[in-house]
Amino acid sequence: MPYTHSPVFVPAQRVEKYNYAIRNIVSHAKMQEQQGKEVTYLNIGDPVLYGFQPPEELIEATVLALRTGNNGYSPSSGKKEAVEAIAEDARCRGIDTTPDNIIVTSGASEAADLVCTAMLNPGDEVLCPSPGYPLYSAIIAKLNARELPYKLDPENSWLPDPEDIERRITSRTKILVVINPNNPTGELYPLNVLRSLADIARRHRLLIISDEVYHKLVYEEVHIPLASLAEDDVAIITIDSLSKNLMAPGWRIGWLAITNSVLIPDVRQAFIKLADARLCAPTAPQFAIKAALNPGKNYIESVMKRLSAQREITVKMLNALPGISCNNPKGAFYVMGQIQLDRFPFHTDEEFVLRLLQEKQILFVHGSGFGTDPSQGYFRAVYLPDASTLNRVYTDLGDFIRKFQ
Ligand SMILES: Cc1ncc(COP(=O)(O)O)c(C=O)c1O
Repeated sequence: MPYTHSPVFVPAQRVEKYNYAIRNIVSHAKMQEQQGKEVTYLNIGDPVLYGFQPPEELIEATVLALRTGNNGYSPSSGKKEAVEAIAEDARCRGIDTTPDNIIVTSGASEAADLVCTAMLNPGDEVLCPSPGYPLYSAIIAKLNARELPYKLDPENSWLPDPEDIERRITSRTKILVVINPNNPTGELYPLNVLRSLADIARRHRLLIISDEVYHKLVYEEVHIPLASLAEDDVAIITIDSLSKNLMAPGWRIGWLAITNSVLIPDVRQAFIKLADARLCAPTAPQFAIKAALNPGKNYIESVMKRLSAQREITVKMLNALPGISCNNPKGAFYVMGQIQLDRFPFHTDEEFVLRLLQEKQILFVHGSGFGTDPSQGYFRAVYLPDASTLNRVYTDLGDFIRKFQ
């Protein structure tokens, strides 16, 4: 009997709930491309696709590392110089941690996976923002744990409501995930909200994952690391990476930093065990971490200048369209748009996104891919493309929706 297509080989059930809308939706765009059409991808937060690059000195450090023979494994928690630089940078930003509480990972994604894998038994619960970045839902599903979505309120700058979070906590709740600046909303959390989140974690003995992969990409306001507010009675894992802050997502370099590891000695050991078994993060770009943590001021300024102009075009043009609105995000490079579905012949956010793709070859991600109700008509748009592309996209979107009025 040949093996192929044997019903004996079916995927494990855990994969059924493993969804990642940001990439899943690309198959629809590929179909457009097969028909010879050119698609404008506003679905994925990859700055390099739109002409951003990491600072030159980081590239040089990585190339030099490769050229000078650093092509072997690194220690599983990361190179000594890298973890020392990360700990020092964290301390300068008010995060209490030490080099032996840092683990360099293959992007922030692996850090999130490692923390959840070390912490969660089947049935354990994780509080996740909704809408939220789907990586967390996917990892939780894979571990047969339970996601407890807590609402981010669109009427209140997409901020979480501490009371809503607290109401959801049960004896099985282990982790509170905070994403700040947030993906998909691009919002930044103020001090009072962060303090309430830390306080909830303290009172209910939750571990906090604070995902801060966009912390350098903030506009008018200042990012406050959640761990900088921690007293000595809350364990916080700050997750960071070079992917967005330094525009190097393909290098797959991220890390986790533990604050108050004395509260979780066994979990810390479990992180190390897991990190050992997967050997290490990519070695060569670890040579760039030190430089990455102190990029020239001009680099971040020029990135923010470009992003700021692109944000302005996006917010202005979307809000000028009949039946469409969006927030004015304070960080990252995403806006949450909303189309009033009852004014159009679409029943769901995904239907709108797919029709727009078919007719104008513009790809957004439907809000329900991040957890909003499909009938609310939310969609996430990336504003990484340059001004002329954004102008064209939103002019085309205007033509598309006016057709229905
Ligand atoms: C909130 C958030 N966390 C983590 C990641 C993954 O980052 P990395 O490329 O470092 O794995 C992303 C990527 O989009 C993200 O938006």
